[in-house]
Amino acid sequence: MRTYVVTGAASGIGLATVKMIEANGDKAIGVDIKDCQVIADLSTRQGREEAVEMVTTLTDGLVDAVIANAGLGLSIAKTVSVNFFGAIEFIEGMRPALLKSKSPRVVATSSMASLMPNDSQLVDLMLASNEAKAVGRAQALVDQGGGAEGLIYGSTKRALSRWIRRECIKPEWAGAGIPVNAVGPGIVKTPMVSEMIATPESREYLAKVVPMPLNGYIEPEEVAALILWLASETNAHTTGQTIYIDGGSDAVIRGENIWT
Ligand SMILES: NC(=O)c1ccc[n+]([C@@H]2O[C@H](COP(=O)([O-])OP(=O)(O)OC[C@H]3O[C@@H](n4cnc5c(N)ncnc54)[C@H](O)[C@@H]3O)[C@@H](O)[C@H]2O)c1
Repeated sequence: MRTYVVTGAASGIGLATVKMIEANGDKAIGVDIKDCQVIADLSTRQGREEAVEMVTTLTDGLVDAVIANAGLGLSIAKTVSVNFFGAIEFIEGMRPALLKSKSPRVVATSSMASLMPNDSQLVDLMLASNEAKAVGRAQALVDQGGGAEGLIYGSTKRALSRWIRRECIKPEWAGAGIPVNAVGPGIVKTPMVSEMIATPESREYLAKVVPMPLNGYIEPEEVAALILWLASETNAHTTGQTIYIDGGSDAVIRGENIWT
């Protein structure tokens, strides 16, 4: 039996992942700001540390896979703290418990929004681990308005996917036998996007930003299944990847030749 820790486990993709883990006969520890075994606010350093401490206690210090999935879809500064710092600091905090596993794995939930326009200054500040300045930059985008705030979400996901690529090959991860990957979903039918897909007009607008020619919107269980493959013992050699599960958005947006 493997032990998985899932953040953002109270809803949507995280909840579907927890249910799938339990249906497989494995153990899931859920972390969320509400309705969960471990209640913690991943937007603050204190909350992240408390989450790591509680999970470590509940698992006797042995975790087989960390699934850093919690996120906000809002164009506000706090999204930087939850989506990027809440993911990477929780992952780093869980490393000692992962090292006790025979087959440790890390998976984060990025997004196809990692391919969207972003604010390079904000991305760089996140990758430099400067949370105060990154949050300040995001707030400046909010204050600027006129659509600038819309760059925040994609910037958090671009930074997360880049962090994974940068870190995965280091001795702490690859050297310790730990694959680190992300999933990059298109539009998934969860509470995060329920308003965005509520009317024909909103769906038409969304289709221009997130073109998904294959099979329409995605069920959370489908994303959970991909997360769980990346988090499984079977995955011994895939690392540093953001696997897009997006109905073809990546292929539409980036086109045929990404190997330049
Ligand atoms: N739904 C989509 O279309 C879609 C697409 C691409 C990526 N994603 C990503 O998938 C992940 C899961 O989102 P979802 O669609 O299941 O949305 P959701 O809103 O249903 O679930 C997100 C969960 O994160 C939790 N959370 C938010 N802030 C938190 C905090 N400060 N501390 C702890 N937990 C917190 C929420 O309470 C919630 O349970 C997110 O990272 C999101 O960015 C979603």
